[in-house]
Amino acid sequence: MIITTIKEMQAFADVTRAAGKTIGLVPTMGYLHDGHASLIKIARQQADVVVTSIYVNPTQFGPNEDFAAYPRDLEGDKKTAYAAGCDVLFVPDDREMYGKTCLTTVQVKKLTDGLCGKSRPGHFEGVTTVVGKLFNIIKPHVAVFGQKDAQQALVIKRMVQDLNFDIRIIIAPIVREPDGLAMSSRNKYLSPAERQDALVLYRALQKAQSSIRNGETDAAIVIQAMTGMIAAIESARIDYVQIVDAETLETVNRIQGSVLVALAVFIGRTRLIDNIILNN
Ligand code: PAF
Repeated sequence: MIITTIKEMQAFADVTRAAGKTIGLVPTMGYLHDGHASLIKIARQQADVVVTSIYVNPTQFGPNEDFAAYPRDLEGDKKTAYAAGCDVLFVPDDREMYGKTCLTTVQVKKLTDGLCGKSRPGHFEGVTTVVGKLFNIIKPHVAVFGQKDAQQALVIKRMVQDLNFDIRIIIAPIVREPDGLAMSSRNKYLSPAERQDALVLYRALQKAQSSIRNGETDAAIVIQAMTGMIAAIESARIDYVQIVDAETLETVNRIQGSVLVALAVFIGRTRLIDNIILNN
């Protein structure tokens, strides 16, 4: 079933809840791939009714970003979502989501200062605002997000904690192509040569993992080795390569405890992100 209006979606949520059933939400921007399917399958195990939202949210894109070009394929999305166990697709348009004007936003401070927050000002405010709206519209008991957007995952968990949303947040592991490339709707932008070059993101993360496992504790040395690898690829331009505390996202100099090794790299004109959590 497809629902396109907020009124209908909220009514559906109310009836579902009144019948004693739980709702699982997978928020997406569409162009669904196996990574999204894995989130839907998790929601399927956790809730009686699974809703997948498909909405390319304009407020989380900067003026020079790929909002207009972002890939869209509702017919393909229907097949992928239903095959993975989705019951309801919520597919609003911009007018429905934001009305003529929307004067209210949700902002999580501090956690949004670094990493993607630094290179994409306003991005996380757009994300938390739309996710907050989706929570109020779909009224889920549980919502599933992907670990590929590691910073987004922490920011949303914090928003849920700080604003007392009565929703359990599940963060699901990154799903990779057989050669290691993290699945992303933006992989579609890559030419065959760039698709090959993009493997450097995962290789750099693997290099960090092996050097930390072999006892390296100096974050600068690990980062230097990673940036060296990436710089050797002609089409690659580093946005950031960082090692941060996996909970606070604060930069670490000495690697101990749980750290997030995260990177954002342009391959040609396509900005890709990837990460790994390492526990020492
Ligand atoms: O991760 C995404 O696809 C988006 O940021 C989200 C959570 C659907 C909000 O638009």
